Amino acid sequence: MTLEYTKKVIEHFTNPKNVGEIKEPSGHAIEGSPACGDMVNIDIKVDDKGTIEDIKFKSYGCASNIATASVATELAKGKTINEAKNINWKDVEKELEGLPQVKVHCSILAVNTLKKAIENYEEKIGIKKEKKSIEEKVYDELGNIVNPNTGNIIVDDKIVKEVSINEKKIIIKIDLSDDDLYKNNISDEIKEHLEPLFEKIEIIFIKK
Ligand code: FES
Repeated sequence: MTLEYTKKVIEHFTNPKNVGEIKEPSGHAIEGSPACGDMVNIDIKVDDKGTIEDIKFKSYGCASNIATASVATELAKGKTINEAKNINWKDVEKELEGLPQVKVHCSILAVNTLKKAIENYEEKIGIKKEKKSIEEKVYDELGNIVNPNTGNIIVDDKIVKEVSINEKKIIIKIDLSDDDLYKNNISDEIKEHLEPLFEKIEIIFIKK
């Protein structure tokens, strides 16, 4: 499959901004994408007013992984922690003037890594994370999974029709047909995202 990249993606891939690492960072995260195994490392340096004064990344992944991390770090630089928390994958995609649908997850990975680096900083300075219910955690995870058919998050696409949680088991009904081209990718991704939370995961595709 040949992928069409925008000029912006190619620019950021060939000349990425903020590459490297920060010695003694205020916050750090390394995250991987279950979809492809690619990884991103992000370090942030936060000043005493809560502004991200420096940010660096290292990529262990594809061209879009590099381009999206480059843009995510550019967007976060100079912002306060609270402003940076509101950066989402759509901002990154927009900045890059689009991504191929099968590469949208790269922008999600970049933004999630940024958020984890911020969480790491907050933990270090003693800001406690609010406790989430198991349903909230499930929807947080589903909110990271892309439907490659449309390039949207599966929750936004409204194809997650039912989630039933029963002790250590979860059953998820997805509104896609059994012969959908990306059915197995979506199923594998859901399983990989939810594995830390449940012993048994059942995905049922319900479109007739
Ligand atoms: Fe997975 Fe780019 S991060 S293909």
